[in-house]
Amino acid sequence: LDNGLARTPPMGWLSWERFGCQTNCERFPDSCISESLYLTQAELMVDLGLREAGYVYVNIDDCWAEKERDPNSGKLMADKKRFPHGIKHLSDMFHSMGMKLGLYGDIGSATCEGYPGFEGTFDLDADTLAEWEVDSIKVDACNADEDLFNTTYPQFGRALNASGRSILYSCSWPNDYYERRHHWEIPDYLNNGIKQTCNIWRNYFDLHDPWDSITKTIDFWARNSSMDVMVRAAGPGHFNDPDMLVIGNPGLSLSEQQTQFSLWAIFSAPLFISADLRTIPPESLTILLNKEIIAVNQDALGRQGWCAEEKPLWRIWVRELTPTKSTFSGNDPPPPGSSDRWAVVLENRQSIFHSRNITFNPTRHLPTKAFNWNHFSIRNLVEGQDLGLHTNTFSILVDESSSATLLIRREDLNTISRTRRK
Ligand code: GLA
Repeated sequence: LDNGLARTPPMGWLSWERFGCQTNCERFPDSCISESLYLTQAELMVDLGLREAGYVYVNIDDCWAEKERDPNSGKLMADKKRFPHGIKHLSDMFHSMGMKLGLYGDIGSATCEGYPGFEGTFDLDADTLAEWEVDSIKVDACNADEDLFNTTYPQFGRALNASGRSILYSCSWPNDYYERRHHWEIPDYLNNGIKQTCNIWRNYFDLHDPWDSITKTIDFWARNSSMDVMVRAAGPGHFNDPDMLVIGNPGLSLSEQQTQFSLWAIFSAPLFISADLRTIPPESLTILLNKEIIAVNQDALGRQGWCAEEKPLWRIWVRELTPTKSTFSGNDPPPPGSSDRWAVVLENRQSIFHSRNITFNPTRHLPTKAFNWNHFSIRNLVEGQDLGLHTNTFSILVDESSSATLLIRREDLNTISRTRRK
């Protein structure tokens, strides 16, 4: 969606995976969906350096609203007990902290948890979001007619634009379309459809913190990114969304957490953390704060990566990055495949007792036949370590259920020897 937002994938925090729809504040005062939960997490985002690193959206998910609309105005209302000062108060607080507020709704008659949906009140609800100075809206599609998505999602988008406020539009359109079977068959998926309508859109099932929930999504990305349709739908202003980062939750090993983060960078995915920042382990925080991997995710070209080779026990992923300045001039984006800088993830899919050597070969794995990739330099982005200059191929030992995250750069040996001679 060309509304000036999400020129790179949005980053922030989202309550759903960690806190779900807990509304019993008497029993669970510290984890129920309430004003104080979001404020506490937002303050921690500042204190822990997450805001500084770019995580600025604080996203409220389902179960924030009263079950009934205001009988006089017909407007949505926040739950009076759990959000005693209303949503506008929270967005004011977040804005004063240099952060943004995201809210949640549904294109149909009710949200997935049965709170009021937007159906029949698109203009009123879009205006209410603008009045509350909401910065982002996630629009689910429970209790909605999927045959109408290609009418209703654009309609609500127009209502948002007409509200006069720039609001990031996050859609569940493909996620809820025919049980996600053929979402790339959405009419005009590429041209007139989703990327014109939404800033980000969920493509697949909800993620949870057991690793096999994440691998299902990664498998889906591997299958469909090789079909190219998803990759071409992504770009500045419009990105596929594989769902939240569950890094920092108890169900994943550290290397699994690292793999999720590295692949979400290859996917040019929104980075929404769903973890309790009061108890997040420091090692998980270190993963989330890795500047070089964030820079891959946030690369200005906005080109989504894909799976370049898939075997039952390992995979190689590549993503094209903004080229080194000297290689290209002007403001036009370089032609696809021409950049001299790529991010690469070598993923060992075997989960027990098996480290393996995985070999990357730029001539084979990059779509860059016109360029001479005989020589290239490598940097390990997890360790922040240069791994030197290589010729033709590069092999690295990757532990089970783990991955290597690399930045590779095409090198011209003439330039290198000239520099060395100086
Ligand atoms: C759906 C979405 C989730 C979450 C819940 C809320 O399942 O996919 O991300 O928003 O609804 O009810």
